[in-house]
Amino acid sequence: MNFKFPEQFIWGTSTAAAQIETAANHQWKGLKAVDGYTFDRTIDHEKRRMEDAEIISTLGNSYRMSLDWSRLQTEANGKFDRQLVEEYRSFMKKLKEKGTSIMLVAHHFMNPNWFDEAGHWWTKNSIDHFSNYVQQLAENFSDLADYWNTFNEPGVYLSNGFFTGIFPPFKKNPLTLRKALINMSKANEKACAIIRDYSDAPIGISKNSVNFYPINKLGKLPAKLVDYIFNDLYTARFVEPLDFLGISYYARMGLDPLPVSYVDTPEKIIEKKLPHDDMWEYYPEGMGIYIRRHWNKYKKPIIITESGVCTDDSDFRIQSTKHYLQILHECIKEGIDIRGYYHWSTFDNFEWNIGPTFRFGLVHVNFEDGSMTRTLKPCGEFYQEVVKQNGF
Ligand code: BGC
Repeated sequence: MNFKFPEQFIWGTSTAAAQIETAANHQWKGLKAVDGYTFDRTIDHEKRRMEDAEIISTLGNSYRMSLDWSRLQTEANGKFDRQLVEEYRSFMKKLKEKGTSIMLVAHHFMNPNWFDEAGHWWTKNSIDHFSNYVQQLAENFSDLADYWNTFNEPGVYLSNGFFTGIFPPFKKNPLTLRKALINMSKANEKACAIIRDYSDAPIGISKNSVNFYPINKLGKLPAKLVDYIFNDLYTARFVEPLDFLGISYYARMGLDPLPVSYVDTPEKIIEKKLPHDDMWEYYPEGMGIYIRRHWNKYKKPIIITESGVCTDDSDFRIQSTKHYLQILHECIKEGIDIRGYYHWSTFDNFEWNIGPTFRFGLVHVNFEDGSMTRTLKPCGEFYQEVVKQNGF
């Protein structure tokens, strides 16, 4: 075997509740996605938890997941829905019985509708409301969570929700963004303190890292600026109370001076003959760049919380996973403390504002015929082998 990973290495896959459960009382519900699908029924995970747990446990020794806040808590500071708590607990217990540890994500791009009405992230109320949620998460699930991830990619959430306006709450206002950033980072500090009262499990955030680079002269300044804001400024606000830094990596992005991606400006990617998946420029080396950059800066243990490619082509997913794992292996050999890797994603799911035809899964989900049948893809078989052999 060429690439053997350290003993105890965490291998897993990752999902987010909103992308796999039918939309309940949150702002994504009803959104018309770029591919024409409506955000509502996603992949029926809430009806298939036990079947899904069986599949998940074959794809790693760990699973990164979040819960549907909008169903657990139906009003500000309201008590969690007992029945739903028990449902989630049975699912999590089943995973644990199968030897699959759990990384629990508190916030993954979704707030309940009441949260938006009672004071969104730009108001100070949000800190107390989120803290109450985290308090009850800790009360109800800390015995089952082996790792905690307070916020999933605050940088992506803030940029898309408050600057480009493509995610709820669809704002395009840097001042609102700044307020939300400050409140979220305070909420992160509080959340870490609350969780620590209940458990010794390591706590992190996941930080999305993108390689921004100038495609031409006009792109020089914007690339520097977004790199600083997205990769340093946002992170610095969250990192202090954490035990580990989660890094999620998918792509690099050229600026000309506007961002160039396959999903938004395919003609530019094609014209420049840049390798790409169905969404972005493909550049796995970028993951190594960010691992080294963040390790040198923060010296916190690193877990890859998400990595994957948007494609329907299993061979491409296998090749790219190998490529990413080689890079990870190199970083580990250099002495960087990398504890694990979660592939994004376990299942094909609802890719937020662009829709479910943009696939990331190791497991195919048939949403076209409405059956939601799960079928392991060849790339899923490949990943199972990696997990078994602790390398490839
Ligand atoms: C998010 C996922 C998303 C993935 C692919 C990450 O930024 O955390 O929810 O599906 O990227 O776009």
